[in-house]
Amino acid sequence: MSSSASGLFQLVDSVGEMSVDSPFSNPAISFSVCSQDDLGWFQLHPLEEQAMGEAVSQKRRSDFNVGRAAARRALEKVGFPVVTPVLRGEHREPLWPVGIVGSISHSSGVGVAAVAWQQDVPAIGVDIQLIEERYTDELIARFADPDEFDWVRSDPARRTERAVKLFSAKESVFKALYPLRKVWFAFDVAHLTPSVSEDSFKASVRLPAVSSSVIELDVGISYFDGNIVTGAVLKQPLPPPAK
Ligand SMILES: CC(C)(COP(=O)(O)OP(=O)(O)OC[C@H]1O[C@@H](n2cnc3c(N)ncnc32)[C@H](O)[C@@H]1OP(=O)(O)O)[C@@H](O)C(=O)NCCC(=O)NCCS
Repeated sequence: MSSSASGLFQLVDSVGEMSVDSPFSNPAISFSVCSQDDLGWFQLHPLEEQAMGEAVSQKRRSDFNVGRAAARRALEKVGFPVVTPVLRGEHREPLWPVGIVGSISHSSGVGVAAVAWQQDVPAIGVDIQLIEERYTDELIARFADPDEFDWVRSDPARRTERAVKLFSAKESVFKALYPLRKVWFAFDVAHLTPSVSEDSFKASVRLPAVSSSVIELDVGISYFDGNIVTGAVLKQPLPPPAK
């Protein structure tokens, strides 16, 4: 998948025979997918190998590889000129080359990554979650506020899908914001409002340690092989940190 002459990206990637829609509608964001069966071309950079660590399980090795492979492709697509390792910060956040923002997620042998130039997009988060029947009321209440909880439960036929969308969207929001200020936050600081067509959310985050005003993000949703993929984009750069 390559960028067009105008520097904009096709909003779809492919893995094996399957095409995957990007959850991002902003054409400045490069979105890539990589599966365990599609790693023949890929080798971790030695510094990525070091960042992963030696004593890791086979599953962790596989997740790390598909995530880094998707990141490598996304960086190529955005026009990053050299192969650069994507290392790990103190709290597991990916460390992108200077000038780049991005995010990584993995699920069941598939890795997804989203990357953009910081001058075009202030922050991005991406998440992939399997659609599975494990969302009890107790579990939903751990990440949904009362309004979100009512929305998830108000249509029994769509309950699981809504729960996965909401959970994944909150993970994407976290992944977008955390690397900017390294402030950890729980699910209750973000309130998500679904669009009528349920293919996106507006996210409002109240995080006084980071900003005195409400932080707003757009979260897009796509589907891939029994998974939901969400992509969060910060709408405005955060204010500079208080001195
Ligand atoms: C950090 C967290 C978001 C990772 O999500 P996950 O479902 O466990 O795993 P995923 O496969 O989707 O994503 C893993 C990737 O997230 C990225 N990641 C991990 N920690 C991160 C952080 N602090 N900030 C940004 N990205 C992070 C990494 O790239 C990681 O992959 P890697 O280790 O191979 O590099 C999750 O474990 C977590 O702690 N969530 C609680 C915080 C939260 O969501 N608060 C509510 C916000 S409304």
